[in-house]
Amino acid sequence: MTTPKARAAAFCARFGLRLPIVMAPMAGASPASLAIAVANAGGMGAGGVLTMQPAAIAAWSAEFRAGSNGAFQLNTWVSDPAPLRDAAHEARLRAFLGQFGPDVPADAGDAALVDFEAQCAAMLAARPAVISSIMGLYPPEFVAAMRADGIAWFANVTTVAEACAAESAGADAVVAQGAEAGGHRGAFIAGDAERAAVGLFALLPAVVDAVKIPVVATGGVADARGIAAALMLGASAVQIGTGLLRTPEAKLSPAWAAALAATRPEDTMITRAFSGRAGRGIATAYARAATVGPAPAPYPVQRGLTTAMREAAAKAGDVQHMQAWAGQSAAMARAEPAGDLLRDLWAKASALLGD
Ligand SMILES: Cc1cc2nc3c(=O)[nH]c(=O)nc-3n(C[C@H](O)[C@H](O)[C@H](O)COP(=O)(O)O)c2cc1C
Repeated sequence: MTTPKARAAAFCARFGLRLPIVMAPMAGASPASLAIAVANAGGMGAGGVLTMQPAAIAAWSAEFRAGSNGAFQLNTWVSDPAPLRDAAHEARLRAFLGQFGPDVPADAGDAALVDFEAQCAAMLAARPAVISSIMGLYPPEFVAAMRADGIAWFANVTTVAEACAAESAGADAVVAQGAEAGGHRGAFIAGDAERAAVGLFALLPAVVDAVKIPVVATGGVADARGIAAALMLGASAVQIGTGLLRTPEAKLSPAWAAALAATRPEDTMITRAFSGRAGRGIATAYARAATVGPAPAPYPVQRGLTTAMREAAAKAGDVQHMQAWAGQSAAMARAEPAGDLLRDLWAKASALLGD
């Protein structure tokens, strides 16, 4: 039987890493500075490109390469079907949101997404070691293009069925995302995200047993005990998001970073109130109020409707109304340089795992 350490070593050898820790791609919160620090410590850096135009994807990748010759992944969301619009309901939402921030412009719900195919082409052109997906599977033509360029595909999954589908579609690894995870849940069908909110302790061994490809564990992993436990449960590596957000290289807003330190597991919640897609964040005044307000519009309409409130709150350092994503292990996030943190986490996890 393969030992956890041998499994991790095989993963590291395949992807050019010195330690089995992958930075989570975090749209809006994965600056190249953090990816560089992670990669230079021997982990895998990451860029979440969801909101980036192709030129910004190229610029992010160039900045990464100027600071590191290590491995990085780029990531975007697989698009949902076009949202159904309801003008009367959106008007109610605009009035509701106006209580928490500036007036919401009448056309706020029309906000367009960056073109998915253009993003895919820009990710290919950047030649990362890995391109990862969330919210679904990449189309076969794009999978073939990645393969032709020697780029591996990591597919984020939240259920056993999604893991099997990703393996069948040609994924090189799956990232098993537990319900503890900060940020958006990657359910392939938006409506499944809350119903099938499986915790990592149940999801990970079930996925490991169901697929032959390596499994990366993510969601609530933020200290050495979590890393060792994930590897014991069959993961080949862990992916850390929230646990890196208080490092100086993450350049997070001070209000959000301070709030993470005070966030106990029970102080986060899954909410659709920011974007229309379910994600886990701090249970702030707005997130709580929204549970009794008008139902959120579908993604990305809700994201457009909340932009004015989110931007005003971010400017004012008001965490109660900003989009403060956080996983359930938020309070474990350490405010120290990412490289030192990674080396310390792996040294301690390695000691826990023994030989
Ligand atoms: C601020 C933030 C933004 C995120 N954005 C993305 C994203 O763009 N794409 C993605 O695949 N996952 C995204 N995630 C989810 C992470 O990939 C990962 O599943 C999660 O951070 C793991 O849980 P943890 O935060 O407890 O470590 C995001 C997470 C956070 C905290």
